[in-house]
Amino acid sequence: MTSASTSALPNLPGTDPTRCILDSFRIAIAKQIAEALPPLTVEQVYDGVDYGKKGEDFTVAIPRFRLPGKPDEHASKVLNSFRSDEWVQSVKHDKAFLHFQVNTASLLRKVLTQVNALTHQTGTGRSEYGENDSGKGKKIIIEYSSPNIAKSFHVGHLRSTIIGAFLANLYKASGWTVISMNYLGDWGTQFGMIAVGFEKYGSKEALEKDAIKHLFDVYVQVNKDAEANPEVKEDAARWFKRMEDGDEEALKNWRVWRALSIKKYEEEYDRLNVHFDVYTGESEVGKEWQDKALDRLNEMGLISDANGAKLVDLEKWKLEKAVVRKKDGTSIYLTRDIGGAIERYEKYKFDKMIYVVSSQQNLHLAQFFKILKLMEFPWAENLEHVNYGLVQGMSTRKGTVVFLDQIIKEAAAVMHEQMQKNEEKYASIVDPEGTSLEIGITGVKVQDMAAKRINNYSFSWDRMKSFEGDTGPYLQYAHVRLSSIERRNPHLLPLPSPSEIKVELLADSSHARDLVMLMGSYPDVVKSALKTHEPSNVVTFAFRLAHAISSAWDVMIVKGEEDLEVARARLWVYLCARDVLGAALRLLSIRPLERM
Ligand code: ARG
Repeated sequence: MTSASTSALPNLPGTDPTRCILDSFRIAIAKQIAEALPPLTVEQVYDGVDYGKKGEDFTVAIPRFRLPGKPDEHASKVLNSFRSDEWVQSVKHDKAFLHFQVNTASLLRKVLTQVNALTHQTGTGRSEYGENDSGKGKKIIIEYSSPNIAKSFHVGHLRSTIIGAFLANLYKASGWTVISMNYLGDWGTQFGMIAVGFEKYGSKEALEKDAIKHLFDVYVQVNKDAEANPEVKEDAARWFKRMEDGDEEALKNWRVWRALSIKKYEEEYDRLNVHFDVYTGESEVGKEWQDKALDRLNEMGLISDANGAKLVDLEKWKLEKAVVRKKDGTSIYLTRDIGGAIERYEKYKFDKMIYVVSSQQNLHLAQFFKILKLMEFPWAENLEHVNYGLVQGMSTRKGTVVFLDQIIKEAAAVMHEQMQKNEEKYASIVDPEGTSLEIGITGVKVQDMAAKRINNYSFSWDRMKSFEGDTGPYLQYAHVRLSSIERRNPHLLPLPSPSEIKVELLADSSHARDLVMLMGSYPDVVKSALKTHEPSNVVTFAFRLAHAISSAWDVMIVKGEEDLEVARARLWVYLCARDVLGAALRLLSIRPLERM
């Protein structure tokens, strides 16, 4: 060891070694370079310390600093003054790049100690590894799922639910105060239709049993009637007009339908491990907010008249002409969104609001964001549309999917059949129903989040149920395997306190090193997902970790290792890997299983 090992590392803004120990390794690298290449500062260099390609821990591209002279000369200076210390082991020069290896023993000890402390000793009872506090003091509303009552819950809503739940977790993990909001499609002429249909086809029992399904059935039937008899539509329109006018008699049933639908949805969201702080809906957007918005648009001269309808011309921004008020004066989707956003701002004073809605509604979202900007609301800059592509081919064996519970049931059934194929294993499962449900849901979620949001994808039950390849069941399996390791090695327990576990004994193991380096990178994965809003960043990480676990498993053995100190150190690596994989799965709204 040289003198450099004792000199303290500087603090840098934007870094937090108490939560991401790799920050320290990067700072140590940046410090060595900055000292060799004045007038560069540690801060300037730090931004250029990137993860290396395979076999290299960190890499720095010298030209990015735009120093006078040749990269080769700068590299030589760094190499000449380089001293290995407790953070950095060695440096190599290759063309315009410097590649650094960190000190393996330090890496193992520091990362594992941090994972352990932030998972098990937070004092909050919550695992905090991977979290950061970049959003401290800030409030965000995340609106997602938002299905329409009495219409089908399509796969688009499922995607919104899955991605939205992930984003809510992600923002919480980054220190934000998060309000999860479900904006139901609970208003509009279809409720007039249902009211008319309910008089003929409605049943209280059926409604109590499954409101979502019954209302859908009534809606389908009354629509058939309407095809044969145009008067049905007129009745429905009159009925909805009464609702809009606030006629309590006309609203009575609708209130019950809405409440029962929410109750049913809550049960299903619960199974998906998804929770909302606020259920609101189009019906709840105050008329006064919509009127105020229209008045303001009028005052600002932004509204023009087209045969009685009111519209805002957005063609200058290639956003077409947006109708904000229909001829008959009834409100519409767009106006409710405009009024609703203003109302939400007044109520919550959010720093940011995200709408998780399919890319099919890109124009709609862009229009109402633009209108709010034209109205000069400063907070309109803080609205964001997180969109996603289509899902093709999600149907069950009984036919097309109409309800969320069909998807959940099918996922559980498909998984259950798959698990029954391995009779011996199946017989050892304590709770086969519950387990197949959980793995099935994991399969659906992982398939959904594995690729970039904007991509369309074809849903495949065959792919989602497989335990091999990059699937949800594979991730659950990896977690279960890691969870079994304590049960299988009672002779090594309890583990000594972290400082007494001899991880240095693993310094020559590339498996341990790869695993620990990956674990160390998890806080960075969380940060970059926050920038991109891509769940695939986290899914990809989980797959990489699971692969690293698989390749270590048969080589870096615990059971059967005669040197008990070595066995304990390995056990600790695996337990930390379980914790990190568990954290990543929970971030994805997946409940990691301990057994299957
Ligand atoms: N209920 C709408 C639909 O199913 C989605 C609502 C999206 N959110 C919004 N604020 N417009 O199409």
